[in-house]
Amino acid sequence: MCGIVGYIGNKEATPILVEGLRKLEYRGYDSAGVAVLKEGKLQVIKAEGKLSFLESKLLGKNPTGNIGIGHTRWATHGRPSDENSHPHTSCSEDFAVVHNGIIENYMELKEWLEEQGHIFSSETDTEVVAHMVEHYYKGNLEEAVKMTLDKIHGSYALGVICKNEPDKLIAARKDSPLVIGIGEGENFIASDIPAILSHTRKCYLINDGEVCVLTPETIKITTISGEIVNKEVFNVSWDAEAAEKGGYEHFMLKEIHEQPVAFRKALSGRIAENRVKFEDFHLPLETINKWKKVYIVACGTAYHAGLVGKGIFENLLRIPVEVDIASEFRYRRPLVDEETLVIVISQSGETADTLAALREAKNKGASVLAITNVVGSSIAREADFVVFIWAGPEIAVASTKAYTTMLVAEYLLALYLGQLKGVVSEAEAKVIIDALHSLPEAAIRVLNEVDRYKEIAEEFKEKHDAFFIGRGFDWAVALEGSLKLKEISYIHAEAYAAGELKHGTLALITKETPVIALCVQKNTYDKTLSNIKEVKARDAEVLAIAIEGDTEVGKYVDDVLYIPDIYNFVAPILTVIPLQLISYYAAKARGCNVDQPRNLAKSVTVE
Ligand code: G6P
Repeated sequence: MCGIVGYIGNKEATPILVEGLRKLEYRGYDSAGVAVLKEGKLQVIKAEGKLSFLESKLLGKNPTGNIGIGHTRWATHGRPSDENSHPHTSCSEDFAVVHNGIIENYMELKEWLEEQGHIFSSETDTEVVAHMVEHYYKGNLEEAVKMTLDKIHGSYALGVICKNEPDKLIAARKDSPLVIGIGEGENFIASDIPAILSHTRKCYLINDGEVCVLTPETIKITTISGEIVNKEVFNVSWDAEAAEKGGYEHFMLKEIHEQPVAFRKALSGRIAENRVKFEDFHLPLETINKWKKVYIVACGTAYHAGLVGKGIFENLLRIPVEVDIASEFRYRRPLVDEETLVIVISQSGETADTLAALREAKNKGASVLAITNVVGSSIAREADFVVFIWAGPEIAVASTKAYTTMLVAEYLLALYLGQLKGVVSEAEAKVIIDALHSLPEAAIRVLNEVDRYKEIAEEFKEKHDAFFIGRGFDWAVALEGSLKLKEISYIHAEAYAAGELKHGTLALITKETPVIALCVQKNTYDKTLSNIKEVKARDAEVLAIAIEGDTEVGKYVDDVLYIPDIYNFVAPILTVIPLQLISYYAAKARGCNVDQPRNLAKSVTVE
């Protein structure tokens, strides 16, 4: 997804912009560019491809100046190319603009601007902003930007600079993240905190409809209509190092190995005397009792966490739970009202579809609870209640520790609600809590089997297709396992409810189709064994994931990976870890770009 960084101060802007863009690489992008202003000259350099291509171009041109904006683009309107990269400039080349989001009415604005004589040089929606600012400019950049914002529909985080006002950097936000970094004698804009973290830990989190005017010394924030907005400074507590690879070859591997620590953090301070409490809220019993139904809404990996959540909430709370993909939820008139709890799950807290679903649910009167990783994210701010997963920054596009900590958060939340409602007994809560506490140690044991995962990945690397099967929780985890494999190794993978395979898809099973069979859930164990026999009868090579001490499954499969025998109800958190690591090593063996798989982005802020 696109990234923005901007600088105004007394240092050279270009290296600061490039360093900031590098910190945003994890968002996924296909081109990059910067615009730097010096002595009435706007220098714009952009390049399709990786940041290193931009850096090579910069070496030749060496743009200097103390104010600039930079961008990494992930193509939506217009293919990836030098021309379509940001910053975009106006006809006179007096104005430069970087933009995240989508200008929905850009076609009609473009026609209107063309009638006025403006000539466009890209296929993007963003370019209209540069021309509109030029159109409205009468000597005051802030005014021209505000008049432009009045006319555009859609979503944006914007950074704008103007040749005639070299002491001003303007930024604005609607439905796309934007932060202002507060420095001394210098200030920053960014779409994401890591971009500016090496310069400042003090930020303003910008809300929808706000416009910021930065000089090296001052930051003015107003609404589009001009009312001053006073904001509290947000102090970033992240360790800058936490966002770096710290010795691992890839962020993904580092993040997989961070899971034991992440589990401890996610549990810390939330359990006392076998009762769960949350730091940020306490729910009155009347509110909880009002809910007759739960919806879980999310995208991608977070959706898969929701599928496990269904089992957790239905089991502990005995309340009906529906799980929905966020991009589907809002378009099918969901049956949501004041008696519904809608749980939205989002690592980034910025996924456009999930945010839209949250708003839809709120409009319908539902209570909305968010499970997210990012403090200050749009979803965290707009939900009625928030449970943070405390996973720490997740950089690799493929989600790992965020998924497992989402599960931890779901167990805690279900226990919390169940205990308040009085439907979870003390004994049952204790067993689950003990199991949650045992997770970090158990996860370390699973992580220690690295050689086994490498060995299995070697066998997978030549395959074109793979199947993941399981029942109940094992099926939900199978879906996440297959997503991991396909998104980073590009091996086609399908996850199937093991009992459903024979209703059609079994036709695809051959000697060449490895099957990973999850046999962790005890209540369906025998049934899954039967399904394993079905695929073995079609010559598939089967790898089973089973519990230590299982002496049965090995008789029917080609290989078995054993995980520690923790309380079966919380086992999904462990079951997924071998699947993450097999996918990682398979992707690596195939020479794939593990942290930034092709065509994917970490945070998808378009619908
Ligand atoms: C993108 C990422 C996925 C992620 C999904 C939802 O597609 O590539 O890894 O699961 O967005 O992201 P969220 O931040 O809402 O959890």
